Amino acid sequence: MKKISPVSRSGRFAHGPGADVARFTESVSFDRRLWRHDILGSLVHAAMLRKIGVLSPAEAGAIVRGLKTIAREIEAGKFKWKTELEDVHMNLEAELTRRVPAGAKLHTARSRNDQVALDLRLWLRDEIILLLGEIADLQRALVTLGEKNADVLIPGYTHLQRAQPVYLAHHLLAYVEMLERDCERLWDCYSRVNVCPLGSGAIAGSTLPLDRALVAKLLGFVNANGQAQLTQNSMDAVSDRDFAVEFCAAGALLAVHLSRLAEDLILWTSAEFDFIKIADAYTTGSSLMPQKKNPDIAELARGKSGRVIGNLVALLTLLKGLPMTYNRDLQEDKERLFDTADTVRATVRLTAAMLRNTKINRASCAAAAGDPALLATDLADYLVRKGMPFRQAHHAVGAVVALAEILDKPLNRLTLAELQSVDKKFGRDALGVFDLKRAMAKRNLIGAPGTSEVAKQLARWRKLLQA
Ligand code: ARG
Repeated sequence: MKKISPVSRSGRFAHGPGADVARFTESVSFDRRLWRHDILGSLVHAAMLRKIGVLSPAEAGAIVRGLKTIAREIEAGKFKWKTELEDVHMNLEAELTRRVPAGAKLHTARSRNDQVALDLRLWLRDEIILLLGEIADLQRALVTLGEKNADVLIPGYTHLQRAQPVYLAHHLLAYVEMLERDCERLWDCYSRVNVCPLGSGAIAGSTLPLDRALVAKLLGFVNANGQAQLTQNSMDAVSDRDFAVEFCAAGALLAVHLSRLAEDLILWTSAEFDFIKIADAYTTGSSLMPQKKNPDIAELARGKSGRVIGNLVALLTLLKGLPMTYNRDLQEDKERLFDTADTVRATVRLTAAMLRNTKINRASCAAAAGDPALLATDLADYLVRKGMPFRQAHHAVGAVVALAEILDKPLNRLTLAELQSVDKKFGRDALGVFDLKRAMAKRNLIGAPGTSEVAKQLARWRKLLQA
């Protein structure tokens, strides 16, 4: 049986690669998902070769038809991918050339080195847009949950100890802010992904008069003013993967944000907090303990951040010792990049769905937020209003807290006499600070969890996120 040998070996090599070598070196098992972008790049490259006279109109037409037929077959699951042909690029080229003789001209002035850089950039552009859409959807889910429970207060925590009361919406909007910065980072990354490397050849461009700007424009590699965005150094263009690193870095930070949100949700579902209930469809049972309902989706959202961080580290490590320019090591970039994109997109989507199916336990939240100790700082502020230096007020309220502990009473049940035993500045109105509603109405600095400020922020986000 005649072994299939890739075109890249045809002239210089007597045989195709051995089976184990083919298995070790192939990438078609995972880079075939680039096929749409590879074909798109080839269609545009063919159009350009026609324009500069390398392809006749008839040849270009035959190539276009051939590529479109192949695309339909791949779509229908009928295309036979061959491991011996290494990667998606050679599989498609070999099949095209088998059907259309002019296919042999398609690789003119193009190398897999600039081709793979192009495909990755085209693929990543689409991926970023899809991810941005999913993030906006998650932001909407957070805002909706906040709006539906606009009056719910919970303790805010530092060091995981109760600190000061906040609206639940304020807590949720903190994640909306983080996610917004993730979107900004992804857009920023997009502007550097959106640069066309085609025409860089293997390393040193081509002696043929390619029209790089035409290719870039046809593929949408343009800035806001419609100007073609072209890589400016052929060596950089074929060896650089920092656009992929940037995406994986933005993805890692996004994954970390999702992980923190997941951790909050996990805590909140516990009997100890009991702030929320996640719908059955988004929880799982235990194989042993019949009573269990576990927040597995949130746990996986938290756990998957590990692999996304790992992907970033893997990519950086892959690049750090590479001599210029293209080295086959770079083939290892794809699975890390794909995995980050797939993982963060799925995590964002599932987190949004889970939040849409989460109910707030208002009674438990109210009980926790009703802890008067959360307003100890307000009591210190009361003394400050009476002219006491804050350090002194902090000390006095500390003594009040200690006294309440000794008397085994909640802070707001101390008598005026008891308060005054600590400091004479406490007046009749001192206990008024423990009115939670009033306390929340007072916190109206920009960014604070005050009643009107949180309402304003919810309205601002609702408007910004209108689909
Ligand atoms: N499959 C290769 C990759 O993903 C394509 C480029 C191969 N280029 C080469 N000169 N062997 O990096």
